[in-house]
Order: sequence, then structure tokens, then C-alpha cells
Amino acid sequence: MNRTVLGILASGRGSNLQAILDAILAERLKAKIGVVISDNPAAPALKRVKGFDIATAVVERQNYPDKHSFEQAVAAELNLHHAELVVLAGFMRILGSEFISRFSGRIMNIHPSLLPAFPGLDAQAQAIRYGVKVSGCTVHFVDEGMDTGPIILQEAVPVLDDDTEHSLAERILHVEHVLYPRAIGMYAEGRLQLSGRKVIITEKR
Ligand code: GAR
Repeated sequence: MNRTVLGILASGRGSNLQAILDAILAERLKAKIGVVISDNPAAPALKRVKGFDIATAVVERQNYPDKHSFEQAVAAELNLHHAELVVLAGFMRILGSEFISRFSGRIMNIHPSLLPAFPGLDAQAQAIRYGVKVSGCTVHFVDEGMDTGPIILQEAVPVLDDDTEHSLAERILHVEHVLYPRAIGMYAEGRLQLSGRKVIITEKR
């Protein structure tokens, strides 16, 4: 079986990238990382794939006159490495509509809240401030809105009275690392079907 080729976009730490890589290495996820692209040359994410025969590319926004040409450069790297699924793993930029339509239905994101609650930046801090008792994370397809695309998987974690933004983020992150490889695996197995804005998960064949 051909392995789905992933193009992973990461701006920072890359712990989700690590979880995806670990799942692939353990044969829990039948996919292949074609390229890791970062907009940040200092991103620790880039170091995580060193020694694994995985291509990396740095595409810095400041080297392009506008967002459009920056995104064209990102798309060119993805195409160069034959990426079939674009995986946003802590990629801290909002993608424009042309990029999204070019990879329509083939871009996934993970967000550290139970969407549609707390979209955008600092989702964990938003949850603490609001006083919710439950939060979690969401894997979703990316559409043109901010964290509004069709939801693939969600999992909840409790929010404790003495939680800080940091302790809640840690608890959510553990769940992210399980959920993201699982959602990518479902895509790779052809089990995600879009019905309107609902994602239907079909049985494993
Ligand atoms: C993760 O918690 C991810 O859910 C979040 O950034 C972190 C990246 O961590 N993404 C967003 O907030 C996107 N809106 P990582 O670099 O260690 O994977």
C-alpha cells in the first residue's frame, strides 16, 4: 500500500511533529513525512527530523514581498516533495484563501480547545479565564475561517480549579499527541468523508 505523503508545517517546538514521527516509526501510522517546512529558521521542530532522511525547508515570511508570494513558496515546497496531506503542527500563521483552495480538503490542523470554543491564539488561557470545567483539543480540516473547519476528532480533558495556562496546556498536549496521529491515520486509510461540514468516519476495511 502506498503511504500518504505528509507535508508538515511547524513554527516552533514541534512536539506534535514528534508524535507523528514516533507513530510512523512504530508503524502505528502508515504515512510518510515528505517534508517539514518552517517559517522560523530557529524552530526546534526542524531538529526533530535530523538524521531521518526527511527533507526540511525554511520559508521565511520576511523574504517575500507579500503573504501571497510567501504562501506560493510554501506550496512550491509541498509540491516539490509530493505532499498529499498538509499537516499544520503548531504553524502560527493564518493561511490565505488561495493556498487553502489549492489544497482543499487536504489541510489538517490541531487546536488546543474543544472548538468552536476558544479559537485563535492562547486557547488554553482563554479556557482558564472563562472558567470552563472541561477543555480539550480538536483536529479539523482547515477552511478559510479561523479554526472553523470541519471537525475530525475531539477529546476532552478536565480543567482543575488550580490549573494555570501551563498546566492545562500540558494536559491537553498529551491528548494532542494521541489524537493527531490517529486522525492522520484515518485520512491515510481513506476513512474521512465530508458531508457538508460534518466529517463522517467510516469503518476500517
Ligand atoms: C499545540 O498545542 C497546538 O495545538 C497549538 O500549538 C501547539 C504547538 O505545539 N496550535 C495552535 O494553537 C493553533 N492555533 P508543538 O509545536 O509542540 O506541536
